[in-house]
Amino acid sequence: MKHNIQPLLGSSYLKAVSAEGVYITDENGKRYLDGSSGAITCSIGHSHPRMIARLRDQLDRLQFVYRSQFGSFEAESLAEKLCLISPDKKYSRSFFVNSGSEATETAMKVAWQYWQEQGQSDKVKFIARRKSYHGITLGSLALSGHKLRRQRFEHTLVQFPVLQSDMEDDTLDEQIEEIEQIIDHEGSHTIAGIVLEPIVGAAGSAIMPPPGYYQLVRELCDRRDILFIADEVLTGMGRTGEYFALNHWNTVADIVAIGKSLGAGYAPIAATLMQGHILEPIKRGSGLIMSGHTYSGHPFSCAAALEVLEIIEEENLPAKATELGSILMEELIEFQRKYDFINKVRGKGMLLGCELDPDVRALQSRLVDLAFEEGLLIYPSVGGRDGSKQNGFLVAPPLTISESEIDELIGKLGTALSKLQNQIVIDGQL
Ligand SMILES: Cc1ncc(COP(=O)(O)O)c(C=O)c1O
Repeated sequence: MKHNIQPLLGSSYLKAVSAEGVYITDENGKRYLDGSSGAITCSIGHSHPRMIARLRDQLDRLQFVYRSQFGSFEAESLAEKLCLISPDKKYSRSFFVNSGSEATETAMKVAWQYWQEQGQSDKVKFIARRKSYHGITLGSLALSGHKLRRQRFEHTLVQFPVLQSDMEDDTLDEQIEEIEQIIDHEGSHTIAGIVLEPIVGAAGSAIMPPPGYYQLVRELCDRRDILFIADEVLTGMGRTGEYFALNHWNTVADIVAIGKSLGAGYAPIAATLMQGHILEPIKRGSGLIMSGHTYSGHPFSCAAALEVLEIIEEENLPAKATELGSILMEELIEFQRKYDFINKVRGKGMLLGCELDPDVRALQSRLVDLAFEEGLLIYPSVGGRDGSKQNGFLVAPPLTISESEIDELIGKLGTALSKLQNQIVIDGQL
């Protein structure tokens, strides 16, 4: 009898029993190279000895306090650390939650409150991208364009203005012009902010906007009096080669959601970071921030995240993401030269994505299965011009991966791709 609900109700999932470094071992003793860090999460690898020691120590001292009764040194130190790693220490305030969805939804609530407390209650809309994923709760899903994930709940989702332009095919001017047009059409007095993933992950297979894009978004937000909210849940904490992917564009947002690599799989934790000026009207007004969860700022999770950030810094993992990511990227480009069914290869640091030919049925799911058989985990993502095709995958191993482990990853992926090639029958279908 199965009691634990997993996504595909008809499938039986193998159970993982242990994990170390970049490898996960299943109940039959087979090892898998974690080429996607789970869901782009386990950035420092599994069973990191420092994490285990730190969390054991934490368990001996303090597990939980409720945030309206006590603060904790763990939460305070983590917020301070996040400020220190942010550009020019701009993200000076942190609100802790438990998942990326909660972090983006908290960003929405903080933005609404920011405007309300200045008497601008009409500023309620968010501009977001058609190709985007910001979370599965109803608020964060309302921001998300991810068709598969939103279609069943469409009736309950607030409909926000959507950016339709293509980040790769349309010019920088066209993309910025579209934002201006939406603001003109809706009226800036109705827009609370714009919410963007710096590099579109699950909903686009690592799409990068053109150089100069975020500098122009920042300038536009200031000029049109709207907030710039960055969803760095997937891109943050070193994965792209910088603590924040927006750093690649020398840009800071007003509010930033982070998650995934913050707890790096050791504890559920995410955060909504903000510049100091965002809290000012709220402090002057009601003085009460209206969001939060029972487990917000959980000392155990905060201790885990603090240790994760110290490991990322001491092991110089953002720089390693850049260095090893470029090796990985070259290998993926090599595969693209070899196989006609790979349409696109892109990304930054250790967040790399490929799009497969959308006209060949089930190519992506077959590849993910073949890789799994080879003992390699890759992450299925969507692509296509309208972002509705199940034809992408992400390669995003732990940033602690070694060069020889990268070779092994490439070897396994190469075998899976060549088996896939052999399975494509004469008419081009599987
Ligand atoms: C960019 C982005 N934002 C938000 C989320 C939601 O995070 P979570 O699954 O932790 O709720 C995700 C998850 O994939 C994501 O990729």
